[in-house]
Amino acid sequence: MKETVITIRRPGRADSAQIAAVHDCAWRDAYRGVIPGCELERMIARRGPRWWDAAIARGSRLLVLDFEDSIGGYASYGRNRVPSLPHGGEMFELYLAPQFQGLGFGRGLFEAVRTDLADHGYRSMLVWALADNERALGFYERLGGKPVRRAPERFGSEMRERVAFGFE
Ligand SMILES: CC(C)(COP(=O)(O)OP(=O)(O)OC[C@H]1O[C@@H](n2cnc3c(N)ncnc32)[C@H](O)[C@@H]1OP(=O)(O)O)[C@@H](O)C(=O)NCCC(=O)NCCS
Repeated sequence: MKETVITIRRPGRADSAQIAAVHDCAWRDAYRGVIPGCELERMIARRGPRWWDAAIARGSRLLVLDFEDSIGGYASYGRNRVPSLPHGGEMFELYLAPQFQGLGFGRGLFEAVRTDLADHGYRSMLVWALADNERALGFYERLGGKPVRRAPERFGSEMRERVAFGFE
């Protein structure tokens, strides 16, 4: 019987193209109708394989979900960027390709991020999500996040609201 091997690991530069592909389809899926179309396309175009290659090369904190040698999702994280909030760490992004959603992998990546941040002394963590991204809001609430801040964000000529969840 063939075993299915699923791991969460740090990516290497050979993974750039696959992470870019996950980023592309996950962002289209999550933000179509939420972020204005032109802005969304511009944001996706900026984050191609070369952008990811540079991020990996400079040692950005990244984890990927590796499903039998193909990448199904990624998370990026580091120090909290909002000095007025007391949380030490921040998860900048967590995205799964649509076919990997709803299977527990989001929780897996989230917990791996929390563990790595805690290993670096950051026990509390912040995550921002767009207020219209109901799936993300439901997920972060389910994982114990508490809304701690709301802030506007500009997309071209339009404004959207984002929400920060704190995890203690
Ligand atoms: C949001 C996302 C990361 C969640 O990952 P996922 O793999 O789909 O979620 P999981 O299957 O790991 O769910 C973990 C738990 O949260 C619950 N959950 C997931 N989505 C939920 C929702 N919208 N509302 C309530 N609970 C939810 C699950 O039922 C599960 O609960 P359990 O473990 O107690 O049974 C994933 O759906 C995704 O990539 N979405 C598109 C991109 C995105 O919006 N990213 C966040 C940007 S801020």
